[in-house]
Amino acid sequence: MNHYTEEISRRRTFAIISHPDAGKTTLTEKFLLYGGAINLAGSVKGKATARHAVSDWMQIEKERGISVTSSVLQFEYDGYCINILDTPGHQDFSEDTYRTLMAADSAVMVIDASKGVEAQTRKLFKVCVMRKIPIFTFINKMDRDANDTFDLLDDIEKELGIATCPVNWPIGSGKEFKGVYDREKQCVISYSDTEKGTKEGTATEVPVREEARLRELIGDSAADKLLEEIDLLDGAGAEFDLDTVRAGNLTPVCFGSALTNFGVEIFLQHFLKMATTPLPRKSDLGLIDPAEHEFSAFVFKIQANMNKAHRDRIAFMRICSGKFDAQMEVRHVQGGKVMRLSQPQQIMADDRKILSEAYAGDIIGVFDPGIFSIGDTLCMPKEKFQYEGIPTFAPEHFARVRQIDTMKRKQFVKGIEQIAQEGAIQIFQEFNTGLEEIIVGVVGVLQFDVLKYRLENEYNVEIRLESLPYEHIRWIENKDEVDIEKLTGTSDMKKVKDMKGNPLLLFVNSWSIGMTLDRNKGLVLAEFSRN
Ligand code: G4P
Repeated sequence: MNHYTEEISRRRTFAIISHPDAGKTTLTEKFLLYGGAINLAGSVKGKATARHAVSDWMQIEKERGISVTSSVLQFEYDGYCINILDTPGHQDFSEDTYRTLMAADSAVMVIDASKGVEAQTRKLFKVCVMRKIPIFTFINKMDRDANDTFDLLDDIEKELGIATCPVNWPIGSGKEFKGVYDREKQCVISYSDTEKGTKEGTATEVPVREEARLRELIGDSAADKLLEEIDLLDGAGAEFDLDTVRAGNLTPVCFGSALTNFGVEIFLQHFLKMATTPLPRKSDLGLIDPAEHEFSAFVFKIQANMNKAHRDRIAFMRICSGKFDAQMEVRHVQGGKVMRLSQPQQIMADDRKILSEAYAGDIIGVFDPGIFSIGDTLCMPKEKFQYEGIPTFAPEHFARVRQIDTMKRKQFVKGIEQIAQEGAIQIFQEFNTGLEEIIVGVVGVLQFDVLKYRLENEYNVEIRLESLPYEHIRWIENKDEVDIEKLTGTSDMKKVKDMKGNPLLLFVNSWSIGMTLDRNKGLVLAEFSRN
């Protein structure tokens, strides 16, 4: 057993995902409160500034008051060392959000009880499903009028295709919210509305078998309804099974109210018990075990211009195995160099702390002089292996880019290629022509603004973006078996290629995808690219 096995086994690394306004920030603040990371949630960074405090790196974020980038928070709770990967909560999220999920071992999904599954949750969820990581659901805002509980669970099952298993069961909602029934303890925990920002209040716990006390606590009609629902639930709900949860096929569900601090600590405790320690990751050497193997990591995100004065770039890496020590030399496999990582740091909200050591499961940011790319592997100098690449996610918005001053062609190409290499946008070319026409694809439209802003500010190039009607992109999986020239699709289909020369098809709607598949037997299309 390595001396650092203990450190690794107490680590839990998760991404927190939700539709904007479901309560992700509030829940995260309450987690930090329980961890003692801050004394009073919200007092360190007032709610209104919380979102800004997370990352004020780019002017564009300040102007729009939203966070484009994601950040990492670390805190201790009950012997665990927890890393939360926060994802941008704005509708205009970007491909970075998806990549962040690649660095996590599990995900917490926050759902607004009056809304159910919303568009953004669905998209992020697909990535979790693809990675088969466990998902823990917190249905928030029970202190407001909520949808029917069975409907909410049904919604998750239908929309996301994952079975649900309620850990607790709400009793009423809104003004009638009485508390939750804890299925394991078989008792009712009464709702206590604590001051915003203080720790959980003293709730009363009454076993359901003590019916008289139960009726006294929550009233006759709520008690009747609850007893009926418990019967239904025990008969119909999915059986709880930890292996199924860990395989990402069953999501435990907790109900609560992050704002009034009800059910948050119980959720955290359940979650920590069920979430996995840092998971082994696939490489060309096979699976790399986090505790058995010495230091290794992969780059999942590159953030440029966090400090404009220095034009710096920070590469975020997830440590996958062993212990990282700031003094040690590491091999950057793709760059073919052995080096010391420069200024390793933990990026917490607007705070950066220089690190001397970190362990598998942790996320570190290092100064990047322009050598790292997304998906790169770092390992010990004596080794040479590569982690499985980070998939390229399908953009959903496309635009043709034109430079306004055609004399600046060189800067334009350099700028756009560098920004694409960082992974901030994807670029495509017409299938049969050179670089003349550049088509940019993004996951969130905000990325277009970021591109425009950065080309102007960093490369002194002005551009015009002409939006294109395509909404779907597909990579051709069996490109060696298909004659792209002869491929016939619908009239609105467009053939393009990516920077590596891979052929792709752009479609205006999903109907065209179906038609194209029908017309070209044997054609295999993919939504992600692993090339
Ligand atoms: P997000 O990060 O997912 O976007 O959501 P955030 O936590 O910022 O919460 C969005 C709004 O919902 C906030 O209100 C927040 O106070 C409220 N909220 C969060 N959890 C609960 C809950 O359990 N119950 C109720 N009733 N409200 C909740 P806001 O008006 O936008 O901000 P503020 O004025 O409260 O600061």
